[in-house]
Amino acid sequence: MPSTAMTTGNRALNQLVTGFFGNVARAYDTRTLQQVLYRPPQDQVVAELRAAGSRRIADIGCGTGILTTRIARELRPEVVYGVDASTGMLAQARARSAEVHWRHSAAEHLPLGDGELDAVVSTSAFHFFDHPVALREFHRVLVPGGLVAIATMHPSAPTARPIQRLTRSPRFPAHAPSPRETRKLLEDAGFTVTDQRKIARPLPSWLVPDVITVGRRG
Ligand SMILES: C[S@@+](CC[C@H](N)C(=O)[O-])C[C@H]1O[C@@H](n2cnc3c(N)ncnc32)[C@H](O)[C@@H]1O
Repeated sequence: MPSTAMTTGNRALNQLVTGFFGNVARAYDTRTLQQVLYRPPQDQVVAELRAAGSRRIADIGCGTGILTTRIARELRPEVVYGVDASTGMLAQARARSAEVHWRHSAAEHLPLGDGELDAVVSTSAFHFFDHPVALREFHRVLVPGGLVAIATMHPSAPTARPIQRLTRSPRFPAHAPSPRETRKLLEDAGFTVTDQRKIARPLPSWLVPDVITVGRRG
């Protein structure tokens, strides 16, 4: 039985993931793909940040920076960082906004100081991270009481069993944790989970079952 998180042993495969996204960065911004797949969790994250009144924010695994730029434009925070390990995705992001501080870095080694942020968010990327290592970093860069909001996919429906098996294989460079695993991972990293809910989207939920987990740094 593989661990509930990606182990550091298969981190080399993460370069395949970030390289892949670099190659598809242009197609990634297609309107339909964004509306159907990526926008719904981003809406939830914006709502959480707005409710918390966060002023110093990082979006981890920011991709082409659509959410990060929205945060800058709609919430007018003091500072917002967009962090991603793919140069191709970040190139698109940089062209999108000069307000955001873009950083080429892995979620597992954030180029940010201790307690520098009020909020760390991540959409549709957490399943690629080394979960405990990334969460340790999220905890480190947040102030006590800081907000964490992670929207991630988890192929849990019976029809998604083949995907489930694939993503559990240590050879596959992603592991989509179940909602219960995600909650435990956050708690083990020192967060108090305050909410966890399904993300509604214009697709059957068995097809893309994703969940947002919200917490506060202890
Ligand atoms: C499906 S995209 C999501 C992008 C964006 N968050 C969104 O909602 O559209 C996943 C992103 O995670 C990034 N990624 C994967 N592993 C990463 C890691 N270990 N550290 C930082 N970014 C990573 C990829 O390069 C890619 O840009």
